[in-house]
Amino acid sequence: MSKTITLNNGVKMPFIGLGTWQVKDPEEGINAVKWAIEAGYKAIDTAVVYQNEAAVGEGIKQSGINREDLFVTTKVYNDMQGYDETHASFNESLERLQLDYVDLYLIHWPITEKYHETWRAMEEIYESGRAKAIGISNFHPQHIEDLMTTAKIKPMINQIELHPGLNQKDLVAYCKERDIAITAYSPLGHGSLLENSVIKEIGETHNKSVAQVILRWDIQNGITAIPKSINKDRIAANLDVFDFELSDDEMAKIDELHTGERVNKNPDIFVIEK
Ligand code: A2P
Repeated sequence: MSKTITLNNGVKMPFIGLGTWQVKDPEEGINAVKWAIEAGYKAIDTAVVYQNEAAVGEGIKQSGINREDLFVTTKVYNDMQGYDETHASFNESLERLQLDYVDLYLIHWPITEKYHETWRAMEEIYESGRAKAIGISNFHPQHIEDLMTTAKIKPMINQIELHPGLNQKDLVAYCKERDIAITAYSPLGHGSLLENSVIKEIGETHNKSVAQVILRWDIQNGITAIPKSINKDRIAANLDVFDFELSDDEMAKIDELHTGERVNKNPDIFVIEK
């Protein structure tokens, strides 16, 4: 089983990356990134609004990994959307990360009045080579349809909340039809699924934890995932998901756990509320 997927522009992206949402303490961030890279991670996900780009950059630097062996994602936040603002925010992100390019740059949330101009800036950043891929996050079909009325370049990724409790079947199918790959954020339901008895039982058959079964379910669905952890052993365990296979029956049992319950904001309501 390959450890990467190929995006619609030919760039390869690792299936599993380290998530860093809510990792605020700089020391924790630096350590998590170093431990992840030591354990074999090739991808790290951050965002301006997480306020940990500097820690992520420092962790990468201290790890000593070759830049070309790492896939780094960051995102432009809502208050910096717009053409000039996105260019400025991107430059600030690179500076904090101590990098001269990112592998993936995303629009964090679909701010309808702004994302056309944000995307225009992102296309320029992509064309300049300072982002190897560009994409969106929390976009629903109506946002993608609207963005595509002005976009020159199709997004390569849509990063969305996705876990067994919110399997996003329709949105995943919509994106797959358009060759837009999916990244699952909060893949463990922000921790809420870790005691799930159905997944636990499946894990026991394979000698794997609940988290490992969920991440394997993502991979077998062709979905990349960014589990967050600041614990050295759990970081390593979350990458140890390439040596077993879930049966069709086990995959179906996990699919049945969908309740539609979110752990993060609904992008539709979020846009109205902002
Ligand atoms: P911690 O950082 O202490 O490991 P999600 O990625 O869905 O948001 O889930 C993150 C939550 O799940 C965090 O609370 C994290 O805590 C916890 N977590 C991450 N990996 C594991 C794991 N392998 N086993 C148990 N808990 C985990």
